[in-house]
Amino acid sequence: MNRIDEVTRERWILDTFPEWGTWLNEEIEEQTVEEGNVAMWWLGCTGVWIKTPGDCNISIDLWCGKGKRTKQVKEMALGHQMANMSGGRKLQPNLRASVAVLDPFAVRKVDAVLATHYHQDHMDVNYAGAVLSNVQEPIPFIGPQKAVELWIKWGVPEERCITVRPGDTIKIKDLEILALESFDRTCLVTTDGVENIRGTCPGDMDQKAVNYLIKTPGGNIYHSGDSHYSICFAKHGKEHTIDVALASFGENPVGVADKMTSVDVLRMAEALQCKVVIPVHYDVWTNFMADLNEIRVLYRMKKDRLNYRFHPFFWEVGGRYIYPHDGEKTEYHHDRGFQDCFEREPNTPFCSIL
Ligand SMILES: [Fe+2]
Repeated sequence: MNRIDEVTRERWILDTFPEWGTWLNEEIEEQTVEEGNVAMWWLGCTGVWIKTPGDCNISIDLWCGKGKRTKQVKEMALGHQMANMSGGRKLQPNLRASVAVLDPFAVRKVDAVLATHYHQDHMDVNYAGAVLSNVQEPIPFIGPQKAVELWIKWGVPEERCITVRPGDTIKIKDLEILALESFDRTCLVTTDGVENIRGTCPGDMDQKAVNYLIKTPGGNIYHSGDSHYSICFAKHGKEHTIDVALASFGENPVGVADKMTSVDVLRMAEALQCKVVIPVHYDVWTNFMADLNEIRVLYRMKKDRLNYRFHPFFWEVGGRYIYPHDGEKTEYHHDRGFQDCFEREPNTPFCSIL
């Protein structure tokens, strides 16, 4: 029984967070994937969990952190990429808008931890620590050079890390990871602390960020990290077969260009020649939230005239998508339950009461 004299702030936090407890961890563990399919779950931001028929499990960009939680600090840290980009100093009001759906400390089985780049909302120290403690096999941490440097700084042993550059492939069970060029230009204005890069030609993107093509028995999944729109999506579309593509969508505040717009998401899908495009990332930051209706309306406007061969799929954080099993779906809804209604006698005064 709950009693007021027993409640504490710490007990409330432990009882309440992560909001989904281990529900999703259990769902992923229990899921068997039919031959010729691939299962994936949206973990928020660009975080996804991928599971194959051969029980290969990988996470990409799993992040379990937080946004702003106090107004005490008034200014952005000097050298922060958004300060570099915008020339602004006022604190960015990026509060976390989506719930935490996976408990990183309840992960017992994963075959590789992947990161597309080293920004705060794409890598997680808690998850890295939990994997080192709780996953028995010495599974690899895979990312571009700057991501690997961050893992090592956190304490991940160097021998557990694999640095990838575009063109590198890694095979794990029945899945193959191919690193591709990223187009995350926010990464190009990200400095290591305060650094004057005015008039300086940007360094090597390949050390900072990569995209991934995950080849599975159910199809090829293209994870674009935080890529902005690039004409080189067409190059990737010509060189590879892409079934499902994830696009970082968001409503950019005035003064910054950090996320793809609704138009960019459609252009990206067309260029990649994918079959399904899934917008992500718009869920997580309060100051970048965006309306999926924009994509819906523009898609209807353009699909016949431009002869689109893809369709968008609108997902929910924590939701499962199995490809190609769910390939015709355009919208996700969480399990609504009550499938066993009237299998037992209801306990109501009479049937017509409701
Ligand atoms: Fe991001």
